[in-house]
Amino acid sequence: MAIASAVAGSPVPALTPPADMIRLEGLRKIFGAKGKPQVTALDGIDLAVPAGSITAIIGPSGAGKSSLLRAVNLLERPDAGTVTVGGTDLTALDEASLRRARQSIGMIFQHFNLLANRTVSGNVALALELAGWQKARIAPRVTELLALVGLSDKADQYPAALSGGQKQRVGIARALAPQPQLLLCDEATSALDPETTRQILALIRQINQQLGLTVLLITHEMSVVREVADHVVVLEAGRIVEQGDVTRIFTHPHHPTTRHFLSGETGTQLPERLAVHVSPVARAGDVRLVRLHALGAIAAGPILGRLAEAGIGAGLVAGRVQPLKGQPFTALVLALDGSENTINNMVTRLRADGCDIEELGYVAADAVAAG
Ligand SMILES: Nc1ncnc2c1ncn2[C@@H]1O[C@H](COP(=O)(O)OP(=O)(O)OP(=O)(O)O)[C@@H](O)[C@H]1O
Ligand SMILES: [Mg+2]
Repeated sequence: MAIASAVAGSPVPALTPPADMIRLEGLRKIFGAKGKPQVTALDGIDLAVPAGSITAIIGPSGAGKSSLLRAVNLLERPDAGTVTVGGTDLTALDEASLRRARQSIGMIFQHFNLLANRTVSGNVALALELAGWQKARIAPRVTELLALVGLSDKADQYPAALSGGQKQRVGIARALAPQPQLLLCDEATSALDPETTRQILALIRQINQQLGLTVLLITHEMSVVREVADHVVVLEAGRIVEQGDVTRIFTHPHHPTTRHFLSGETGTQLPERLAVHVSPVARAGDVRLVRLHALGAIAAGPILGRLAEAGIGAGLVAGRVQPLKGQPFTALVLALDGSENTINNMVTRLRADGCDIEELGYVAADAVAAG
């Protein structure tokens, strides 16, 4: 036991919780030119991003994701609140100190923003020239970075000759050039196809692990969150409506917006042909619709087996199994047919075993069968 050996042996050093790379407190940002309606883009944001983590911010269009990300390096200066990065309150710095502090924050974008008249090497070197690196140190650093992102053979190409994925690799090399502690990604994979997206996310994960870099990324795709993130923050109308560890968010989402994003990713949106007929109370001949999330061993097969054993009919309306943090993650919409009591008991038992079960309402058995 740790406590026993601590008493017997030398004093145990105090446990220090992982330091936060970013702390946002009370952030507010209001846009609005004179005579135009004001938009509150950020409405009281408090957020801590642990050092070394990959944190994803997800939310609908206009939620304030880009405003939040741009507030972290003060590209967007908040109207109220403080932004602390690596222990430094950026909002308190003068312009010269802020410019220096920004060198420890890299950023990549959806549209790669590469200079067309510079080669791959030239684009990466530019970041170092701007950061004031000595000439002799620049070339070896560029070589090292291109190797890191897998572009050593493209050093002398111009951006026009690159694929989208290769352009984003240049963007990543450029962002990492001055050895930042933090990488901000604004929809960095939104312009890429699914396979290239996976490769870029794998590269971001590799960099996070290899260099210990903290990553804050924004996305409107839950698949990006599932593939790469440790923590998730759900933003809506300038406010954080839910946040947590990625496994908890997937297996036990709380907020309707989180559930909405998740159902899109897991293919468990209720089909429109059923949604229009759903009733909150059971009518004669109805079945009960539930959405179910389960991680790991309680996968699809065992759940359906348990329902059958209990004498509950279960029609599969929608769903799929996807990997989540190396485990199978099951998401299903089921139409359950049986006595209310039997189903209630089963729901209670499945919840006790860690399943998340959301009641969706009742619909005619015929309507399900017709699909
Ligand atoms: N420079 C600006 N001037 C005026 N309004 C702005 C400005 N930037 C953002 N907004 C408004 O602030 C709100 C939040 O915008 P933001 O770009 O942060 O959203 P987002 O979550 O990144 O959306 P998207 O997913 O579409 O990129 C929106 O209503 C937007 O119209
Ligand atoms: Mg945006």
